[in-house]
Parts: sequence; C-alpha cells; structure tokens
Amino acid sequence: MMNVPQNIDGSEPISLVSLPRDIQRTEFIATALKRLALNMATLTGEDFFLSLATDLALTLNIPHVFISELIGEQLHTLAIWTKNQLQQNITFDPKPAPCGIFINSSSETTIYHCPCELQSVFPDDPNLVELNAESYLGVALQDSTGKYIGTICLLDNQPMLDPELYEDILKIFAARASMEIERMRKTERIQQLYVENIRLYSLEKEKSQQLNELVQKLQSTQQQLVHTEKISQLGQLVAGIAHEVNNPISFISGNLFHINQNFTEIVKHLSLYQQYLPQPNTEVFSHSEQIDLEFLLEDTPNMIKSMKLGIDRISDIMNSLRNYSRIENKGKGNIDIHEGIDTTLIILSHRLKANPRRPAIKVVKEYGELPLVECYVGQINQVFMNLLANAIDALEESNQGKSYAQLEINPNTITICTSLNSNQVRVRIVDNGVGMKEEVRQKLFSPFFTTKQEGKGTGLGLSISYQIMTEQHNGNLQCFSAPGKGAEFVIDIPLNKE
Ligand SMILES: Nc1ncnc2c1ncn2[C@@H]1O[C@H](COP(=O)(O)OP(=O)(O)OP(=O)(O)O)[C@@H](O)[C@H]1O
Ligand SMILES: [Mg+2]
Repeated sequence: MMNVPQNIDGSEPISLVSLPRDIQRTEFIATALKRLALNMATLTGEDFFLSLATDLALTLNIPHVFISELIGEQLHTLAIWTKNQLQQNITFDPKPAPCGIFINSSSETTIYHCPCELQSVFPDDPNLVELNAESYLGVALQDSTGKYIGTICLLDNQPMLDPELYEDILKIFAARASMEIERMRKTERIQQLYVENIRLYSLEKEKSQQLNELVQKLQSTQQQLVHTEKISQLGQLVAGIAHEVNNPISFISGNLFHINQNFTEIVKHLSLYQQYLPQPNTEVFSHSEQIDLEFLLEDTPNMIKSMKLGIDRISDIMNSLRNYSRIENKGKGNIDIHEGIDTTLIILSHRLKANPRRPAIKVVKEYGELPLVECYVGQINQVFMNLLANAIDALEESNQGKSYAQLEINPNTITICTSLNSNQVRVRIVDNGVGMKEEVRQKLFSPFFTTKQEGKGTGLGLSISYQIMTEQHNGNLQCFSAPGKGAEFVIDIPLNKE
C-alpha cells in the first residue's frame, strides 16, 4: 500500500472539500498540482500510476479513481483507488462502461462527464453497481499520434463537487500518464527486441554451428574419397607392377637355371678338349690367354649365383607388394603385426638405404612376443606406411646442414618397438628427426594439416591413420614430441576378446 502523500513542508494534504468556497480556483489548482507534481516527479512505471491514483483520490476527495490502459479490446487497470485504499488491478470490457465512450464514439471525445444517475446511463456495467457510483469524470489518454491508449477516471457516489476544476487537473495529469504509458510500451518493446535479438543470435549461432558440422562432414567425406582413391590407386599400381614384373622375373629365374646347367655342360665339354687336346694351336691358345679363360670359368658361376640372389630379392619385394596390396580383402583377418611392419619396411627400403647425402637410416627393431591380431591388414599396413614415411621425412629435414661424417657418428634412427600389454598390442615408432612444436602436435590429426611444401604432403596421412586406428579398430594413435627431440608415435590395437 502507498503512503498517504504529504505536502513538501510535511503538512497534511489540502483537500478541496476543506476549502472555503471563496478561495480562488487557480490558487487551489496551483497548490494541488505542485503537490502532485512533487510527489510524482521521480516516479515511473507502476509506482507512478499508484501514486497518481492515490494523490488524485486524496487531494480531490474522490472515493474511486481508475487509471487504465487499453490492450487489444480490453482495459487493464494500472492503478485503482477505492474503499480508501489501492486495490488489485483488474481487466474489464470497456464497451458497457463509461470509459467505452472514448473507444465507441466516432467523434474525438477526450473528456466525458456524467454528472448523475450513472448506473441508469450504463445499466450493463456491473462495476458501477458494486461501487455504488453516481457520477463519472474521465479523460482519455492518447499517445503521441493522438491514438486512444487508456483512461483516467474519477467516480463519485454523489454528483461531483467541482467537475470543471477536476477536469483541468485530470487533463494535466493525462499528458504525463500518456507519456508514461508510451514510455512503458517502448521499454517493453525494447526488451522484446532485446529478447528477440538474443533469440536470433542463438539461432544464428546454432546455424553457424550446423554449418560448421556440415563443413566438417564434407571434409571428412572428401577425406574418405581421397583415402579410397589413394588406396585404390596404390592397389592398382601395385597389382599392375606385380603383374608386369612377375613375368620377366619368372622368365629370368627359369632361364638362369638353364644357363647354369648349360654353362656347366660347356665347361665339362671344354675340359674334355683340354684333356684330349692338351696342345691347342697358337690361335686357340692366344685367344684363351686374351679372354683370361681361367678367370671366366671361375667367375661366371659366381655371376650366375649373384644374379639368382638378385632375382630372389626382386621376388621377395614382389611378394611383399602383393601382401601389401591385399587391400581388396575387405574383412578383418588375423594378422602378424611384425610381418606387416617388415613388409612396409621392404617397400620403403629405397628411402631407407644410403645415398650420396647421408648414410643408410638405421632401423632398430625391438619386437616383443605378439599374438596374431584381428584387424584390417591393408589399413594397418597403411598406418605403418604413413608413420614410417613421416619419420623418414622428419629425419631428412633434420639432416639439413649436417655433413655425411656427422651423420655417421649420430645416425638417423627409426626404432620400432612392439609389446603386448594386457589386452592390447602396442607398437611404438620412434625417430630422432626434427620433432615438432606443441602447436603442430595438436593439429597433427586434422585433415589437410601439413607443414610440408606444396605438392609434397597432402596432410592426410595422419588423419587417415588416426581414423583407421580409432574408428576401424577401436584403438588409439598418440604422438609425443618436442622440437629437436624427435617424435614417438604410439599405436594401440585392442585384442578381440572372443
Ligand atoms: N615423425 C614426425 N616428426 C615431425 N613431424 C611430423 C612427424 N610426423 C608427422 N609430422 C608433422 O605432421 C604433419 C602432418 O602429417 P601427415 O602425415 O598427416 O601429412 P603430411 O605428411 O604432411 O602429408 P601426407 O598426406 O602426404 O602424409 C606433417 O606435415 C609434419 O609437420
Ligand atoms: Mg605423411
């Protein structure tokens, strides 16, 4: 409940009824307005309307004061003073009520005064009966465009004492009340806009998140496509090479057997000549001297033997390539991890061997006892290939500015350790290459992340490997590294618990 207002000097509020009739109206208006204005100067919103209703009632000595706002087709009270106190706000239909005059009337009514018999003039308004209202004075509240937005009305249980005076006062406060309603509506609108903005912002955020997810999906699809393309190209290439090289290999290795046999026979035949014709003529003798027959007879079988070794080595490589390209074998198989690593090392042997810039890369194998592991052989071999190729790249990068002799003292080394830890197989591939910064390490498994020159790296090797290990094998791939400290990649493959 509001406090009963006081005059600025603390005295009781003046009341019209207590005034002698002869006091000038203007003086009363001035005093009343001053008091009302002082009481309400700093108030806004609900406080303002409650104070206005209270002050009007007490100053004018009117039993009922209603201040209401039009929302849609209903009037909602902002403040009600009746039965000597402020009351709970209500919503009512203005049509049967005196306030309806401002809405119903086609003329631009802004003041309405019903001096007496109010209930007979508005017989359909139940509130008038309840209030025992006899007279009514209302003023329309209008917004800045002149549109009706509410009413301030006074209701008395008898004809009003000085309606003209009340009218003047109501008019003045109507302007302030109208502004207050407009201000409240604007504030509400700003709040609505703010809430709407927040809603739009979160919608926008949600959309951009969806877009991000879409981009990621697209990237991953593209990555898959490149992956599949890489594998199928590699598979085709390997199959093609294996096919093309296999024929000449078997042709050479088959013929080498016959050459060896033929050569043995020729040698046997030659020794028969030497046995039965120990004194050849001069031409035969000088030719045998010229060609160093003795050396040829001794060296040729060795040459044939080394050719056989070479051919066997090529056959091994071809077998490895065939194993490696067993990618078309889509299902999981029980594979020997060591065989997979060794096969990959054979395929990479051209990059591991010595060249004019550096000695051979040292490969240290610390293999533990491993069971066969159920996995996709082609994919696991691809992971080994990516990790070992990266290690060789990192070693070559670290060789920049180092002499051959320095590298002989501190050789490029790749250490491959395997172990069985409870229910998983762990493979560690460690190199003593350039290593990497923490920011590189964190982006390592992102698709298309590469620090290599354009055209040299696609930045897909590790992201594909990570996907193979985590999604296809429920395993893990981790990297530990620091600049200048080399890198360690750890692969964990869980064993099938069947
Ligand atoms: N052993 C390593 N030592 C240092 N840096 C490494 C090592 N392995 C990978 N990196 C870094 O991680 C990056 C990403 O490797 P990733 O294999 O995914 O792509 P890439 O080798 O650049 O290209 P590609 O798609 O041809 O494999 C490399 O560019 C390199 O910077
Ligand atoms: Mg790579």
